[in-house]
Formats: sequence, C-alpha cells, structure tokens
Amino acid sequence: MPERTLFMIKPDAVRKKVIGKIITMVECDFHIVDMKMKRFSREEAEKFYEVHRGKDFFEELVEFITSGPTVGLLLEGEKAVERVRELVGSTDPKKARPGTVRFLYGSSIRENAVHASDSPASAQREISIFFGAP
Ligand code: CMP
Repeated sequence: MPERTLFMIKPDAVRKKVIGKIITMVECDFHIVDMKMKRFSREEAEKFYEVHRGKDFFEELVEFITSGPTVGLLLEGEKAVERVRELVGSTDPKKARPGTVRFLYGSSIRENAVHASDSPASAQREISIFFGAP
C-alpha cells in the first residue's frame, strides 16, 4: 500500500538555490501529491520539532528553521517513509552516504538541507502542521 511522507527543503538549501536539484532527486521515484513554500513562525517551528524540546540544540534549530522559507513536498509511494530517509542520508552530512541529498547539499549537522519524516505517525503529524489539517 502506498505511504505518504513529508519531505522538506530547509532554509540553507533554499539560500543555496538548489531547490530544483533536490526536487529532481525525489520526483523520479515518488509521486508529488502537494508542494508549498512556507516560512515557519516560531510557534509552528517549536511544534514541528516538539520531540527535540529540551535538547541543547533546540533553540538554534528553531532559529535556523525560521530564518527563511522552506519548501515542503507531500510525497507518496511504496514504503515512502523509509525510502525517502535513505535518499536523505545521515543527519550529519559528514557521515552521509555519497549520493544522498545531505551528502551533496548539507553544510553541517544543523544546516543539513532537508528533513524527512521518520515514521508514518510523524509523517501524518508533520503533514498536517505543514499543509494544514485535510
Ligand atoms: P532533522 O532531520 O530535521 O531533525 C532534527 C534536526 O535537528 C536535524 O535534522 C538537524 O537540523 C538538527 N540537529 C540534530 N542534531 C543536532 C545537533 N547535534 N546540533 C545542531 N542541530 C542538530
């Protein structure tokens, strides 16, 4: 059964002008159901990254994600959550497998170009924060 996931291009990648290159990497393998450019408010960013609240990098993560526009793609495909995460690569671009999005376009563990939901439950939650409840 096809699965849905949220794939988000972060402000660092938007600033680098690689939106098109990154979308090209996902559109051949997944169906793009919806797509939107969005600048997070602080409140939305804190909600989106709720699971990281309390960690030492939480404040700088919120600052970064609200620093400019993001581009969200609602992707659909077989095992989309797992397959998109594979394409994204490790959180730290220095440890990401060659050919992955973060290997190619990430700058640091914080400014790592993209985000992808880590489970179907997170996907549902993140899609509704990014695109609004259906
Ligand atoms: P993401 O996959 O969007 O999920 C949480 C984000 O927090 C992560 O990508 C990074 O942008 C950021 N992050 C994770 N670990 C660290 C860290 N140690 N220092 C700074 N930012 C981090």
